[in-house]
Amino acid sequence: MADGWEWDATLFAGAAPHYARGRLPYAPGLADELARALRLDGTGRLLDVGCGPGTLALELADRFAETVGLDADADMVAEAARTAERTGLAGRTRWVHARAEQLPLGLGLFDVAAFAQSFHWMERDQVAATVRDMLRPGGVLVHLSDWKAEPRSTDPLPHRPVPQPAIDALVRRHLGPVRRAGRGVLPHGTPGGESLVYARAGLIGPEQLIVPGGRPLERSADEVVAGVLSLSSSAPHLFGTGLPTFETELRALLRGASPSGRFSVRQPGSEAVLWRKPER
Ligand SMILES: C[S@@+](CC[C@H](N)C(=O)[O-])C[C@H]1O[C@@H](n2cnc3c(N)ncnc32)[C@H](O)[C@@H]1O
Repeated sequence: MADGWEWDATLFAGAAPHYARGRLPYAPGLADELARALRLDGTGRLLDVGCGPGTLALELADRFAETVGLDADADMVAEAARTAERTGLAGRTRWVHARAEQLPLGLGLFDVAAFAQSFHWMERDQVAATVRDMLRPGGVLVHLSDWKAEPRSTDPLPHRPVPQPAIDALVRRHLGPVRRAGRGVLPHGTPGGESLVYARAGLIGPEQLIVPGGRPLERSADEVVAGVLSLSSSAPHLFGTGLPTFETELRALLRGASPSGRFSVRQPGSEAVLWRKPER
């Protein structure tokens, strides 16, 4: 993990009810692209490590015989289970509340394991080695994130942009100048360089799969507020009793930025990096 920072269970405390509504979706077509690249045929098993409210696991669940989502935040797992129930996927999904560091937990072998915007929060060498052992020979590890190198479109947007610099300044005014995470601070952010970690674990890759984004998405003020509260750096627990004041000020800021209450953002592209476990 990041130097001097220690993981604790408050990392996403209070974020779960805001997550699915607040976060931008992965690029449309991602599930089809992964299904093609991984030759998914409705059999096999998927392990989604740090699954959150089931964002990726639920997108892919009908392409596997069984999907196991694991997350360290109990409320995230509960959200995922509720959505699975509501969408008819409960029968082929299983949700585990545990830290990735506790794996393998007797969960058996998997054809595909995924880390979707979650690996940077983990003891990476330990977790990568364990998850490699949980893959069947020839199985694939998928590291998923927003496509950061996507060329930025300059086409006009139908609504005002989300006033991100002003939101960031408001968060800093409430939580201090240094990025918060759980009970600690992350002045230099989370670690990168995960390719070296996967290679050290003996996985073969990388194979990059890009699904472009770019089209404008419309966001309501409620969705923007939920997006802010879904982040580890501005999760509800960090505000303590100041949460209602923060939310009131955030909503006033959003009203000032867009009197219509509508905002435009660009759909982020998605980048999946595939790492294969050798056949022998
Ligand atoms: C940014 S969210 C990503 C959620 C989901 N995978 C997605 O793509 O939207 C990161 C998730 O990783 C989980 N997480 C963080 N550290 C973890 C750990 N050590 N073990 C398991 N899950 C962890 C958090 O609770 C959170 O739900």
